[in-house]
Amino acid sequence: MTTKTAAITAVGGYVPEHVLTNADLEQMVDTSDEWITTRTGIKERRILKPTSLGTSFMAIAAAREIVQKKNIDPTTIDLVIVSTATPDMPVSSTASFVATEIGATNAFGYDIQGACSGFLYGMSAAAAHISSGRYQKVLLIGADTMSSIIDYTDRSTCVIFGDGAGAVLFEPNDEGLGLQDEVLRVDGKGREFLKIEAGGSMLPASSETIDARKHFLHQEGRPVFKFAVSNMAAAINQVLDQNNLTKDDIDYVVAHQANKRILDAIAKNLDLSYEQMLVNIERYGNTTAATLPLLLWDYESKLKKNQKLLFTAFGGGFTWGATYLTWAYNT
Ligand code: COA
Repeated sequence: MTTKTAAITAVGGYVPEHVLTNADLEQMVDTSDEWITTRTGIKERRILKPTSLGTSFMAIAAAREIVQKKNIDPTTIDLVIVSTATPDMPVSSTASFVATEIGATNAFGYDIQGACSGFLYGMSAAAAHISSGRYQKVLLIGADTMSSIIDYTDRSTCVIFGDGAGAVLFEPNDEGLGLQDEVLRVDGKGREFLKIEAGGSMLPASSETIDARKHFLHQEGRPVFKFAVSNMAAAINQVLDQNNLTKDDIDYVVAHQANKRILDAIAKNLDLSYEQMLVNIERYGNTTAATLPLLLWDYESKLKKNQKLLFTAFGGGFTWGATYLTWAYNT
């Protein structure tokens, strides 16, 4: 059996219709368009309404775009992975429901909880399944309904996050294109800085946890910002070194969209040009596991076969990494 590389062969996406602007947030909390724009780069974000549609609603829409675009028989899909921090339910997996709804009746499926690095971790899993030679079609979806875990009275988090989903299809590639290498990490000490305290086994839901607003996302922005910049830059440097590449060899950096200032700091740290960085944070905010595939969705027409892409992300846990992938098709 020859080991094949696993390439992305299609991209899909979905963002809800409802737009939450900085002007809307000015009416909800003590903030301003000026503060949000200068501190984060975000102008608006999409919100799933009603929230009860669940993350699967967006994941299914993103997956269906791929099935239709590529004219795939869904029964030939082997595996559906959903990277998400906001599954429809704690049990069972969102991936199971998505697979069934799109007609992937011969697939297995599971969720990955890697917070904002979930899609990066999912790329690793998807590519490993393909390279094993056992599977031919792996659908990877990054989807999050952040509005379901955000406290819209907390100005330090509610201005940042949005909802959305992006999907990619991984298939074997005969030309050696696709995922080439990766550096993936965790640091569990980071959970103090970015967490939802209640609702898990340590602190199950109770009337006290609800009253104390412990089911909402809590973030200490400054330390997270610092760790995000230094760890993503270090992971990128390591993956470049491992592959004898310099930053000039890279066509595009597909970086997690958490804060425009983080993207600027990474670009400065690595001496990357503005043209190398894909950016759409101004329209969607931080959609957690969906930011990387939504970048591919927005910029797909720019990407050309053989181009070198560097993905990077950082998120709760902490989780982070960098992945080197060569693009496999022209649109
Ligand atoms: N509007 C107006 N003022 C705000 C505000 C808002 N929405 N949010 C916070 N502030 C205030 C704070 O209360 C603080 O006021 P003070 O100086 O009077 O105490 C001041 O702005 C500075 O707060 P700080 O938290 O230090 O701001 P910051 O410049 O670090 O920006 C983040 C906050 C969250 C935007 C930024 O830290 C960040 O992006 N962190 C990383 C997030 C991230 O990468 N997450 C990755 C995993 S998803």
